Amino acid sequence: MDKKRRIAILTGGGDCPGINAIIRAAAKKAILEYGLEVIGIEDGYEGAIHGRHRRLEYDDVSGIITLGGTILGTSNVANPYRYAIGKGEKPEFVDISQQAITNINRLEIDCLVCVGGDGTLSIASRLSTDGVPIVGVPKTIDNDLTGTDITVGFDSAVSIATEAVDRVHTTAQSHHRIMIVEVMGRNAGWIALHAGVAGGGDVILIPEIPYETDIIAAKVRDRNKRGKRFTIVVVAEGAKPKGGDVVIKRVVKESTDPVRLGGIGFVLASQLQETTGVETRAVVIGHLQRGGTPTPFDRILATRLGTRAVDMIEKESYGRMVAVKGDLLTEVALEAATKGPRQVPMDSPLIQSARSLGTCFGD
Ligand code: F6P
Repeated sequence: MDKKRRIAILTGGGDCPGINAIIRAAAKKAILEYGLEVIGIEDGYEGAIHGRHRRLEYDDVSGIITLGGTILGTSNVANPYRYAIGKGEKPEFVDISQQAITNINRLEIDCLVCVGGDGTLSIASRLSTDGVPIVGVPKTIDNDLTGTDITVGFDSAVSIATEAVDRVHTTAQSHHRIMIVEVMGRNAGWIALHAGVAGGGDVILIPEIPYETDIIAAKVRDRNKRGKRFTIVVVAEGAKPKGGDVVIKRVVKESTDPVRLGGIGFVLASQLQETTGVETRAVVIGHLQRGGTPTPFDRILATRLGTRAVDMIEKESYGRMVAVKGDLLTEVALEAATKGPRQVPMDSPLIQSARSLGTCFGD
């Protein structure tokens, strides 16, 4: 009797709403349409390195489309090519990729589906070069992967950030304050731009456009002159002043990408209060953007990408990531997909629209 064919799924990097919807789509299709066995690798590359995995049956992936996070667990630190031994001040880094590859080979799979952002898929690209058959699926709230127009998780994060902007609007109005909402996104301004526009932000600050505090202060004064005694500022965690630098919240030494951004909202709040004399408050919504139920858009995107990934396995289209181009799905080489970060282009039609409404970008 023929041995049953098998695939494995791994989710790596920061979690986000919609990952479970990808797992569900890929696993259900693999089981129902192609009769494959599905293995779930636990905690991203950490599980690949240490041989931690479990069988995923149909019932394990049923009823999870609305669930945030990832049922498989994840790690945004474990990298088999640069694995940190010890978590102290000076971790030692070792290449234990061969151990991970041996463990993956032991699973006797046709292909490993890697669900991730830039970090996870860069490692996937190396593993693919080292002989592991891999198909990538893009997810990250940051939306900063090259090769795809959108990633799973972004729409949910924008929806959460927009609600935060909406909620500070009324308190800003009541207290005649400047309210600053700091959102995530690393070195890309996608979340800030989209939530800023959707929430009617008066000032939107993104990493791609270094700002000048005086220009923001002038915008606040101008609004006050016109009877608008409050101002809403949406700032990306990676935004920086002209000639200045980003604000770093912490350094995770054992991580391949150790810098964690955060805190620009508070820096800006004290500067703006001092320059304008208007009372200013800042909120950092942080990991709220990564939690909870995915939006319908993300559930649909996850379903399209997850099922397409399984079709790619059937075609043996390995070393590639399923991607979105306009309304259609396409495939790109993992290597090309991870040449990021994909930032907001200066000629973005959304920036142009916002500018035409008088939105200030601090420049
Ligand atoms: O990449 C997703 C992301 O949420 C970024 O927007 C943010 O900068 C980072 O991860 C936060 O990482 P951590 O969960 O390690 O604090």
